[in-house]
Amino acid sequence: MKLPAIPPYKTKVVEPVYFRSKAERMQKIKEVNYNLFNLHSDWVIVDLMTDSGTSAMSEQQWAEIMLGDESYAGSESYFKLKRAVQDILGFEYLAPTHQGRAAENILFSATVKEGDVVPGNAHFDTTKGHIEFRKAQAIDCTIAAAYDTTEYHPFKGNIDLEKLERIIQQYGAERIPFINITVTCNTVGGQPVSLQNIQDTCAIAKRNGIPVYMDIARYAENAYFIKTREEDYKDWSIRDITKAMFKDVEVVWMSAKKDGLVNIGGFVALNNPDLYEKLGQFTIIYEGFLTYGGMSGRAMGALAVGLYEGVEFYYLDDRVKQVQYLGEQLKKHGIPIQEPIGGHALYIDAKRMLPHIPQSQFPAQLLGVEAYIEGGVRGVEVGTLLADRDPITGKDRMAEIELLRLAIPRRVYSKAHMDYVAATMGRVAAKSQDLKTGFKIKKQAKMLRHFTVELEMYDS
Ligand SMILES: Cc1ncc(COP(=O)(O)O)c(C=O)c1O
Repeated sequence: MKLPAIPPYKTKVVEPVYFRSKAERMQKIKEVNYNLFNLHSDWVIVDLMTDSGTSAMSEQQWAEIMLGDESYAGSESYFKLKRAVQDILGFEYLAPTHQGRAAENILFSATVKEGDVVPGNAHFDTTKGHIEFRKAQAIDCTIAAAYDTTEYHPFKGNIDLEKLERIIQQYGAERIPFINITVTCNTVGGQPVSLQNIQDTCAIAKRNGIPVYMDIARYAENAYFIKTREEDYKDWSIRDITKAMFKDVEVVWMSAKKDGLVNIGGFVALNNPDLYEKLGQFTIIYEGFLTYGGMSGRAMGALAVGLYEGVEFYYLDDRVKQVQYLGEQLKKHGIPIQEPIGGHALYIDAKRMLPHIPQSQFPAQLLGVEAYIEGGVRGVEVGTLLADRDPITGKDRMAEIELLRLAIPRRVYSKAHMDYVAATMGRVAAKSQDLKTGFKIKKQAKMLRHFTVELEMYDS
């Protein structure tokens, strides 16, 4: 008899979960203006808002926390992290930052200017925010299949190469400081980019004299998909695949809170000493001294260990299969999800689940609120709320796809939690016809509105 698969770890420390009644949750969500970001975490039963900074660290990482060198300059923990980055990613220079968006801030401060254009697969919201904040444009060149949740494509994060070439011709290479590849592509569902597509994109970039930068928040999960879905690489190790992914890439930046298996941290890594020197100026004014940036010594030490653990095949296999398991359970409950199932999250298609709720009433947010009411499950909207307004016209941008994202923290939840989430969503599906209206906006910030927006029921 074949033995069942089990996680390659066991529990040493536990964290309590608090249970509240459905009536209490209904009251609470109204009090917080239907914004899931405003909920205190002890009001949440299974928190799938993000996989970012929510990983459980290993005993080796906690041991490294005790060894953290908190020296302002020349910390040994920085050198441990630098050696890990050189060894695993193959980049010589390292600028640590407090998280991914801070890496974007220092990197784009040095490279993006007003009027520039940054093509790539769908940019993450903070990436786009940092580009638009500099009065430049982020142009989405993801393949069309990414926006059809029913179409099977093994690499929906791929760049549409013809569109990329058209954009380069239209704007001219001199207006394009870099081409951006995000692995995996969070915005379209944690979908991977094939190694072939990375190589083809790099070849186009090279022909046009444009560098390629990579947002590597989930690079190890991307490598796992290359190994398991791209025939030529099935016998390659994860580490050999990641090296191949970075071969022609000039700069990588990382929100280490994902595949770095830490609760805080990020960095920019590169081989170009001149650009590193430029970044240094911005590191010092925005983050801190060059050998800690925005991180404590102990956080850098934990990340040095996390980078190694994050590329272990058994860990990745368990991680990605847990996400797949939840996806399969959701499908059994008749929930329409983005397929194939991505690496870190399930994306529920709100247009298919609530076709009668117009996009202007934020149907994916409605699904998120209902998941909270029914089971205390917290996800996050990736739709028209997140798409925000056009910076030029100020009008709402209707998202191409309306998704509720359920992101799975790494090494945190069990199979029983996944079954609970699927059952909760089953309840939401059962009442979907009774949900007659979505939300309207009471108050919103100038940009990145979804974090702080205040909503009320459309019919109130
Ligand atoms: C692809 C990607 N890039 C950048 C970021 C920003 O990173 P952080 O949240 O650490 O600032 C995220 C965060 O979720 C992300 O998913």
